[in-house]
Amino acid sequence: MHYETSCAMSAERRTLGLLRWYMVDKDIADQLRSGTMAAFLLDRYRAIGARVDAATDRAAHRGARFAVLGALAGGAASGLVWAALALLLGSGRMSVASAGTAFFALRTVGSSLRGAVAYGTRMFRTGLYLDDWAEFIEEAGGHRMRRGSRAAPAPGVVRAESVGYRYPESDAPALDEVSIEVRRGEVLALVGENGSGKTTLSKLLTGLYLPTSTAVTWDDVKTRDLDPQALWRQTAVVPQDYAHWPLTARENITLGQPHGGDEAVREAAVRSGAQEVVDGLCSGLDTLLARQWWGGVELSGGQWQRIALARAFHRPAGLLVMDEPTSALDARAEHRVFAGLRRLAEDRAVVLVTHRLANVAVADRIVVLDRGRVIQQGTFAELVASPGLFRELWSLQNDRGARPGPARLRPSGLSGPGPARWPCPPRWPDPPRWPCPPRWPGPPRWPCPPQWPCPPQWPGRPPPSGPTGLPWPVRRLSPRRPGRGPPSASPRPTCRAPGPCRPRRSG
Ligand SMILES: Nc1ncnc2c1ncn2[C@@H]1O[C@H](COP(=O)(O)OP(=O)(O)O)[C@@H](O)[C@H]1O
Ligand SMILES: [Mg+2]
Repeated sequence: MHYETSCAMSAERRTLGLLRWYMVDKDIADQLRSGTMAAFLLDRYRAIGARVDAATDRAAHRGARFAVLGALAGGAASGLVWAALALLLGSGRMSVASAGTAFFALRTVGSSLRGAVAYGTRMFRTGLYLDDWAEFIEEAGGHRMRRGSRAAPAPGVVRAESVGYRYPESDAPALDEVSIEVRRGEVLALVGENGSGKTTLSKLLTGLYLPTSTAVTWDDVKTRDLDPQALWRQTAVVPQDYAHWPLTARENITLGQPHGGDEAVREAAVRSGAQEVVDGLCSGLDTLLARQWWGGVELSGGQWQRIALARAFHRPAGLLVMDEPTSALDARAEHRVFAGLRRLAEDRAVVLVTHRLANVAVADRIVVLDRGRVIQQGTFAELVASPGLFRELWSLQNDRGARPGPARLRPSGLSGPGPARWPCPPRWPDPPRWPCPPRWPGPPRWPCPPQWPCPPQWPGRPPPSGPTGLPWPVRRLSPRRPGRGPPSASPRPTCRAPGPCRPRRSG
């Protein structure tokens, strides 16, 4: 009974444990306070606690009832035995010596029986537990990874051929008939709306998941045939939610697998912008990044993301996958990462997942996913120039509903407000540190006012090829000087001279 109750209540007990953790966890304390959630969580905790207590009480009462019934039955039985013994002795049918022997025999048997019953109950309960344990081990065995043992060198080409993937217990496939490939030296960008399958696809490419139909191959060898450990040694991943390991800064970057010494760590940290973070730490690379321990420090979200990027850059892997790698970075750090990406891709294949479409311009090819299917592929210029989801998202990303016309948003030298229906661009001309030019999102159907010159990125115009591959000139940002405040001293970006408007296309 107790065992059954504890099994039935295990989910509730786990919820209680989680709630206890959430209520005392420092990382969410501010959300808990600012959301005034304490009362809500406490009420829920009390309600679940009351259910668990009630179930435990019920089990205890039932157990006690059975125990009382058992004790009554046992008492009645032993009363009968003692009464019979007394009767036999009183009636002279039993000698005193026999009665004395019977008395001691009954006492001995009684205590042995009690011990046997107690041990039996304990064994029964342990047996139930062992049955469950055996069932669990059997089921867990079914989840064991069954992969091949082929060596996995750095891949020259990673290819998905009409792959499909369906999560267990999910009706709809997360990916359906997706075919893509990325080669060493290339940057492939995956773009799409939330839930379109970008993260799932990146996990298939890195062999973290195996496709449910067809295969992902590394140099024509299926990922399921490769030794998983060898395969993962060739992958560097910046996941959407990266771990905050309670280790030193050095170990957080090397993941406990150092190579190349501190020089390699420093190089990776410089590329990701983590060096600035490390330089500000009391013990540099030896600083413990966990405030829960004495001497440990706390990093901000963006600083942690720089560390996560350095972790991936430090890994000598043939495939680098970055899932929203700069979501928490400031403009300067983000610029540094994307400006350095091309050099990083020289000796590895890079898969980039990001919602900031301006960043995917660095990619050689962009794959647009929608509900698990590839719906568009091409370069940044091709996708911006052709109608489709990419251009729509691009337009939306550049339209923040800013009212057109204010003088501060107008290119210098132009006068008069823009037309009221002009939906874009909110960042025209570029804000102080934007590496320009503004993202002109205008699909061809947007009117191009004759007095406004067209920015260079008007769809259809071939992007200027800069050293970074970005379709706009990237200036070298001056390093931040400590104590000098924002980089106001750095030269303002220089936009290209705007050209004349292209004739508007219909549609
Ligand atoms: N662990 C999971 N279990 C079940 N379904 C999942 C899981 N992870 C993602 N999905 C589903 O798979 C689809 C694609 O998810 P995901 O690849 O994370 O999309 P994206 O990264 O493009 O936002 C979504 O519909 C999502 O609900
Ligand atoms: Mg995702």
